Amino acid sequence: MAKLKVGVLGATGMVGQQYIRLLEGHPWFEVSFVAASERSAGKKYLDSVAGRWQMKSDVPKSVGDLMVEDASKVDRAVGKCDMVFSAMEMEKEALRALEDSYAAHDIPVFSNSSAHRWTEDVPMLIPEINPQHLDIIPIQKKRHGWKKGFVVVKPNCSLQSYLTPVYALMKEGFEVRKMILSTMQAVSGAGYPGVASLDIVDNIIPYIGGEEEKSEKEPLKILGRIENGKFVNNDSMKISAHCNRVPVVDGHTACVSLEFGIRKPALEEILRIWKNFRAVPQELELPSAPKQPIIYNPENNRPQPRKDRDNDKAMAVTVGRLRQCNVFDVRFVGLSHNTIRGAAGGGILNAELAFKKNLL
Ligand SMILES: NC(=O)c1ccc[n+]([C@@H]2O[C@H](COP(=O)([O-])OP(=O)(O)OC[C@H]3O[C@@H](n4cnc5c(N)ncnc54)[C@H](OP(=O)(O)O)[C@@H]3O)[C@@H](O)[C@H]2O)c1
Repeated sequence: MAKLKVGVLGATGMVGQQYIRLLEGHPWFEVSFVAASERSAGKKYLDSVAGRWQMKSDVPKSVGDLMVEDASKVDRAVGKCDMVFSAMEMEKEALRALEDSYAAHDIPVFSNSSAHRWTEDVPMLIPEINPQHLDIIPIQKKRHGWKKGFVVVKPNCSLQSYLTPVYALMKEGFEVRKMILSTMQAVSGAGYPGVASLDIVDNIIPYIGGEEEKSEKEPLKILGRIENGKFVNNDSMKISAHCNRVPVVDGHTACVSLEFGIRKPALEEILRIWKNFRAVPQELELPSAPKQPIIYNPENNRPQPRKDRDNDKAMAVTVGRLRQCNVFDVRFVGLSHNTIRGAAGGGILNAELAFKKNLL
């Protein structure tokens, strides 16, 4: 099978670099186009990331020689790629228009940005939770008159560290009425160069602009449904979030307390549900899917970012410290890799799902 040609928009940034690294040797996709701001345009990719390449492996040879294009010149991508991953840091309205423009040029967009997360016909996907939300794509295409293009987004990077374990319990019939969470979010979540070292070394910053609102609202769309051609939130759960920036390089951690409805699972039952949880990406054997999406570590001082963020290609959620809660019903700690599961790896998994569903 010939591989699909893919473009990475924002290829020079923190998330873009992860895309370039993760797509090397991908069985279905190959990078054929890289784009960023006009500051990087016109340089060889290798030169554009000189001095700011954050990956442990070298720049893949097949990408190093590609010329970086100006992402705003959409016609430069036409004929060069079958779809794009969007990982640009831009003002939201301009980014929405730019992503739409790629879709209008017959190029499907898998986005990491928050620009389109609340567009009524754009699915916000975690493939283990809401793969059926891709059913809205024909409606989205028809509404815009797009023939081949469409837009799919990922949620905020911290959601991945707790929402799949919570959803696994809901799937087994346990209603979750309330959730309180405190996140400890890595510095790579702020992009490069991100938070100033003098602010974050030896410190914790108890505020990340917009993150608490995203943590409280985005799960409701993901757990929601399609009605009359648009998404309707599942408003039955109340969420309260505290989001903190901590001096960790990669890996977002969340301490979570849950209150259930009338049926309350025992701790052993929760462990059994998490252990046995499998979903569509595992059934379809998508190349980036973790074999075990939720890994429980019983040691009382886990999960830890340094030790657990890379579990199962850095695509698994690692949970630990499950215990009774004195205020709600149960509490636990969840962890996932923010620039892989929470960004580029998650975006690739979305595209793999769309490919298997014959949308590409
Ligand atoms: N970091 C994470 O953990 C994470 C997780 C989930 C989602 N996200 C989202 O992913 C996106 C990228 O984040 P990041 O952390 O990779 O940021 P970053 O390291 O700051 O990289 C930003 C990228 O956007 C490009 N860019 C900036 N202005 C542009 C413009 N006017 N036109 C086209 N490209 C432009 C930059 O190109 P130049 O190099 O040419 O300036 C660079 O490639 C953001 O929307 C962010 O919210 C990030």
